[in-house]
Amino acid sequence: MELTKYIEKFKKIETPFYFYDIDLLRQTLREAQLHSQMIANSTIHLAMKANCNETILSYTKKAGFGIDAVSGGEISRAIQSGFTGSQIAFAGVGKTDKEILIGLDNDILCFNVESVPEIEIINTLAKACGKTAHIAIRVNPNIDAHTHKNITTGLNENKFGIALEDLIPTIRKIQNLSNVDYYGLHFHIGSQILDMECYKQLSLKINNIQHALEGEQIQTSSINIGGGLGVDYEHPQEHPIADFYTYFRIFKEYLQLRPHQTFHCELGRALTAQYGALITRVTFVKKTRNKQFAIVDAGFFFFFLFSLYQAHHKAINLTSDKPCEKYDLVGPICESTDIFGEDIILPQTQRGDIIAILSAGAYGHVMASQYNCRPLIREITSEQL
Ligand code: LLP
Repeated sequence: MELTKYIEKFKKIETPFYFYDIDLLRQTLREAQLHSQMIANSTIHLAMKANCNETILSYTKKAGFGIDAVSGGEISRAIQSGFTGSQIAFAGVGKTDKEILIGLDNDILCFNVESVPEIEIINTLAKACGKTAHIAIRVNPNIDAHTHKNITTGLNENKFGIALEDLIPTIRKIQNLSNVDYYGLHFHIGSQILDMECYKQLSLKINNIQHALEGEQIQTSSINIGGGLGVDYEHPQEHPIADFYTYFRIFKEYLQLRPHQTFHCELGRALTAQYGALITRVTFVKKTRNKQFAIVDAGFFFFFLFSLYQAHHKAINLTSDKPCEKYDLVGPICESTDIFGEDIILPQTQRGDIIAILSAGAYGHVMASQYNCRPLIREITSEQL
């Protein structure tokens, strides 16, 4: 993302704020769409949990993407942004009755379900509304995504999905209920996946599952392989767009889809991380005997990931080109985990400098809080400058 052209404008704006570069957003969508077309009948769903900014939703809709929602609120916001129910898949291990009703009211594409009790409740509620709900079963394929343990979701010990051994009985259960239809299979093995071999393993596993289901005369209409494609947090400027080509190429090569089947994926990070930056100002530079701290006006209340996963995000000083020094880049609050980076190299930094924390478009603003009575951080797009 090219931020230097915005520096003069950033200087005039109260910090901190999230900034989204719409040119890069459009390029990202174009590239994802282009490579997904390798696979017939494919739809990319934006995992709204990563970013649900209105402008981003609007461009994503125009580009023909669908939505992966994980709450009633996300479904409602997607509908407000012009998506139709038939473009929305609804996932989540703990959907409430109220949320299920929002899905039913909007005739969503499918409920990605994770347990038998959930199927029973959806059936009861659908019956009361006189509707039939499409059910995709989230299968836990027991595949290690080789990513941070907090964002690994496809192992037997994780709370997600239905175990392979329970799949056929679960489909039979759906077939025996009046107001739910078995629609498809859903998978999601984790997030920030860079080891593409995992997706090959997933494809091969799905092939085996399909084979077993066909042996039982079970027809599957849709295959949803989830999200998880990672981005380059180390070198975001060199790699501003995720490797959509390799991702789709692997499924094209290894996943054996049947001619009538639709293919879905639900990407969050890969569609949103790299065109977002957290723009923050240096409040003070504080030197101690051992360290030099650049204290900025954003903290973990606005960007939670550092504290949650010790995530690495590149930080750059947009307003200094002096010789480099070592800093701990920290927020203002009384928590030792309120830190954006330890011993990072920045050009000599002073009060008032503007720092951009890169790759902040995914799981940034959506997870921000109002801790310490701070007003919620704003989002500004390049079109609004
Ligand atoms: N589908 C399902 C069922 C998911 O649970 C997730 C993310 C996605 C799709 C989108 O995954 P993505 O393409 O963004 O990897 N806050 C954490 C990430 C949590 C991911 C949760 N699930 C982080 O920033 O690392």
